[in-house]
Amino acid sequence: EAELYAVYKGVYMPALLHPPHSLKYYEDFSFRQDDILVATYPKSGTTWMQEIAPLIMSGGDPASVDTLPNWDRVPWLEEQRSCVLNLEQRPSPRMFATHFHYNMMPPSFFEAKPKVIYVMRNPKDVFTSSFHYYGIASYLVNPGSQSEFLHKFLDGKVMFGSWFDHVKSWLNAEDKERILYISYEEMKMDLRDSVSRIAQFLEKSLDAEVIEKIADRCLFKNMKQNKMSNYSTVPREFLDQTKSEFLRKGIVGDWKNQLTVAEAEHFDAVYKDQMKDPDNCNNPAV
Ligand code: PPS
Repeated sequence: EAELYAVYKGVYMPALLHPPHSLKYYEDFSFRQDDILVATYPKSGTTWMQEIAPLIMSGGDPASVDTLPNWDRVPWLEEQRSCVLNLEQRPSPRMFATHFHYNMMPPSFFEAKPKVIYVMRNPKDVFTSSFHYYGIASYLVNPGSQSEFLHKFLDGKVMFGSWFDHVKSWLNAEDKERILYISYEEMKMDLRDSVSRIAQFLEKSLDAEVIEKIADRCLFKNMKQNKMSNYSTVPREFLDQTKSEFLRKGIVGDWKNQLTVAEAEHFDAVYKDQMKDPDNCNNPAV
């Protein structure tokens, strides 16, 4: 375990994707005011937003999501790939993703104040999606049994730390007017309305037909067909999608098929306790 995880500001992260030089790059990174940052706890809708945001910014041009894989199109700033993508040369508006907590953001984030889209998802579904994902990704710690993984998840002993701390850190952010908070569940319920809200936040005025076209392209069944978004180009020894696909089910409430009644009750109790004081983050980075 020690080898697979690195610890940055008290939070676990996959060591393979985040060597020390990439964290240094991240800390020194210069944001621009017109950058767009997609911030998520893992398994909350990152890939979905990596599809929606470029389509919005390009006015619905399919090339915006067909030509580059999602991790180059909206790269994770803290990942080592970012060091070689020449992001400084990219024209505005640039788009990035991050799995970091608010209080782990680099200094220029607080100075330049780029726009942020924070996507949240029901933590029980995040747990469910994560459990399957840990089972197929060789760069992550073996999840062990469901009950073992549940304890690790609720304790924040998983990549990118505690879901509770992550959500609280972003909900407590200063300058909330530059952050759009949106949930996976809202996007599932009404994708067209969600695309329209996101476009408005990004100050992109789009015709109703364009919004409709973008929403249609971003439906789970359609996104699954996009080779540049479904992780099919990742070698099997890294991500074994014969066991479980990256775009796995794409539904709300799959936790009901995963958690026992006792596990769900325990989850609710921990949730209540962790969220009772929304200002109190346990993240040591605070
Ligand atoms: S990661 O590894 O953090 O980038 O993962 P992330 O993309 O945040 O989360 C993966 C889950 O999001 C689901 N997904 C979608 N659901 C609905 N519609 C669309 N278009 C969509 N795209 C991705 C994906 O299936 C994972 O959830 P589960 O529950 O495992 O299916």
